[in-house]
Amino acid sequence: MRIGILTGGGDCPGLNAVIRAAVMTAELRFGDEVMGYLDGWKGVLEGAYRRLDVPGTRDILPEGGTVLGTSRTNPFSVEGGGERVAENLRELGVESLVAVGGEDTLGVANRLGGHGIKCVGVPKTIDNDLSGTEVTFGFDTAVQTATDAIDRLRTTAESHHRVIVCEVMGRHVGWIATYAGIAGGAAEILVPEVPFELEEVCERLRRRHAGGQFSSIVVISEGALPAEGPDADSARFATASSAKDQFGHARLGGIGAWLADEVEKRTGFEARVTILGHIQRGGTPSAFDRVLATRFGVAAVEAVHDGAFGMMVALRAGDIVRVPIAEAVATSKMVDLGLYRDVAGVFLG
Ligand code: F6P
Repeated sequence: MRIGILTGGGDCPGLNAVIRAAVMTAELRFGDEVMGYLDGWKGVLEGAYRRLDVPGTRDILPEGGTVLGTSRTNPFSVEGGGERVAENLRELGVESLVAVGGEDTLGVANRLGGHGIKCVGVPKTIDNDLSGTEVTFGFDTAVQTATDAIDRLRTTAESHHRVIVCEVMGRHVGWIATYAGIAGGAAEILVPEVPFELEEVCERLRRRHAGGQFSSIVVISEGALPAEGPDADSARFATASSAKDQFGHARLGGIGAWLADEVEKRTGFEARVTILGHIQRGGTPSAFDRVLATRFGVAAVEAVHDGAFGMMVALRAGDIVRVPIAEAVATSKMVDLGLYRDVAGVFLG
């Protein structure tokens, strides 16, 4: 059988581990041939691909990024895109496709089912916001990177008696902020799921510093905002960007700088901001992510051979299972508020 594979959306550590595992499983276990489409859905739309084989992918396991390249191309944003994708796959004799991506990439895979394209999904994103799976690969590495950064910020914050705001990724969800904030012992963790009251944040910092603690780390997701009102308006104004990708997502960033500014103005504490940005997406995957990505890669090819199209491989209670892609992309997986309030909440302020 000829199988296609693509990696779409923001890159993340572990993509190469999936590619390697899928190629090795397909070739060695099933005698398949694997075509790697370049730059996500763009490659399928434009017929850009390269043959992948065991010798060429055997050693890519620890490499960050994706050897196939990626993009945020949405084939449905162009006239007749779905038909072009179907035509290109047919021409190359690709019978089924393994799509490795987040909600956007897998949303396309789900829609292409309606064009007769047989897809199996693999969940990736450092944000960990895909439903249907307990965790996506890439998240563990990103949390470790953010935690390492917080540890470093702490010592300089302590030396200078400063508030340091650390802005982490997380467009709609605060998984990275919550995990790295707990792991790094942050004084405040601000996430998109729970709009914050700026004055309450400042008051907790004042109390903390009055109690003898002269420095604080505040972790904030890029998508977090104050509760509705003048502070939210001012934050939105300061962080607004007109740039949007083909899936309609605005480019985020800047809430950390806005917050550091407000904290300094309102409390008089010297404040600084560090935006971790794409550092969280780069570099070699953690052991956990390598193992999870490898299991997903093997399971995806098995799903192809079982004819489990329209399904995504997922992790549940330690097992790799299959869930409908439609279910995985229907809603974002929000931060567990029990964890946020009952665990993180104990240590905040
Ligand atoms: O892949 C998800 C993500 O890392 C988000 O957390 C972030 O908002 C976005 O990608 C950034 O995308 P880009 O690299 O296209 O600017």
